Amino acid sequence: MDIRLDGRIALVTGASFGLGRAMAHAFADAGAQVAMLARRAAPLAAAEAEISDDTGGRVLAIPCDVRDARQIEVAVSEATSQLGPIDILVNNAGTSRTMPFLEGTDEIWQDDIDLKLMAAVRLTRLVLPGMRERRWGRIINVLNTAAKAPRSGSAPTSVTRAAGMALTKALAQEAAPWGVLVNAMLVGFIETNQWREMHQKQAPEKDFSAFIESRIAGVPLGRIGQPEEFAALALFLASDAGSYITGTAINVDGGMSPVV
Ligand SMILES: NC(=O)c1ccc[n+]([C@@H]2O[C@H](COP(=O)([O-])OP(=O)(O)OC[C@H]3O[C@@H](n4cnc5c(N)ncnc54)[C@H](OP(=O)(O)O)[C@@H]3O)[C@@H](O)[C@H]2O)c1
Repeated sequence: MDIRLDGRIALVTGASFGLGRAMAHAFADAGAQVAMLARRAAPLAAAEAEISDDTGGRVLAIPCDVRDARQIEVAVSEATSQLGPIDILVNNAGTSRTMPFLEGTDEIWQDDIDLKLMAAVRLTRLVLPGMRERRWGRIINVLNTAAKAPRSGSAPTSVTRAAGMALTKALAQEAAPWGVLVNAMLVGFIETNQWREMHQKQAPEKDFSAFIESRIAGVPLGRIGQPEEFAALALFLASDAGSYITGTAINVDGGMSPVV
C-alpha cells in the first residue's frame, strides 16, 4: 500500500527533534506540506533544512512555545497564510516530568497542564472549524503509556496524559460527523533526545547504550523503539488509509504497557 498525503497541510508541534521531527519527515516524504513548531529557532531551522533537502517537500519552521495561547494563535495564523488551512494536526510537544507527588507544586502542575493538555485544546480549537467546513481532518494526540497505566511517581505527566486521552475520545465522537478523525498514540520507550537528557541527569557515568540496556527489561520486544517506527503509524492515521479509525489510543511501546 502506498500511503500518500499529497495536497494535505500538516502542523506538527515539538518538531525539531525526536518523534515530532520523524513525523514531519514522514509527512513531507508522503507529499504533505508541513508546519513545524518548537521553541528553539536554531535546531528547528536545522530540522526544516534537513527535511526539505531529504524530501524536496515544503516545510515551514515556526518558533512557538505551545504553552502560550498568544504564540499558538500567531503560529497557526502564519502556517495558514503561508501554506493553507491545516488538515492534519499533531499535538506532540512535551517533556518528561515525573516526580514524587509531594514535590509537585501548583506551578509545576500548571506548567504540565499548559504544555500537554491546553496546547492541544487551543490548537484544536483553532484548526477544527476549518476541518469541519472542509469535511476532512486528522488530529493525533501524542501521549504516553502512563495515560492508561500510571505508576508510582508518574504525576503530573500521567494525569495530564490521561486527560489527553479523555479529550481524544470526547472530541472523536463530536467531530466524527464532520469527517474529522481524532486518535491518540501512546509512547513507551523510543530513542530520542528525551532519553539522552535523562541519561545525562540520571547516570552520566554510564555510556548511553548501557543506560538504555538497563531499561529495556520490561519491553517484550527487547529493545528501544526508533522514531521512524512511531512515525509510520502516525502517517497511516493521518492518511486516507486510516479512514475507519477514530477515538482510539494505540500503544507504540514494544508491548511494554500492562494495559492494551
Ligand atoms: N521518547 C519517548 O520514549 C517518550 C516517552 C513518553 C512520552 N514521550 C512524549 O512524546 C513527545 C515527543 O517526545 P520526544 O521523545 O520526541 O522528545 P524530544 O526529542 O525531547 O523532542 C521534544 C520536542 O518538543 C519541543 N518542545 C518542548 N517543549 C515545548 C514547548 N513548550 N513548546 C513547543 N515545543 C516544545 C522540543 O523543542 P524545544 O525544546 O526547542 O521547544 C522538541 O522539538 C513528548 O510529548 C514526550 O513527552 C516520549
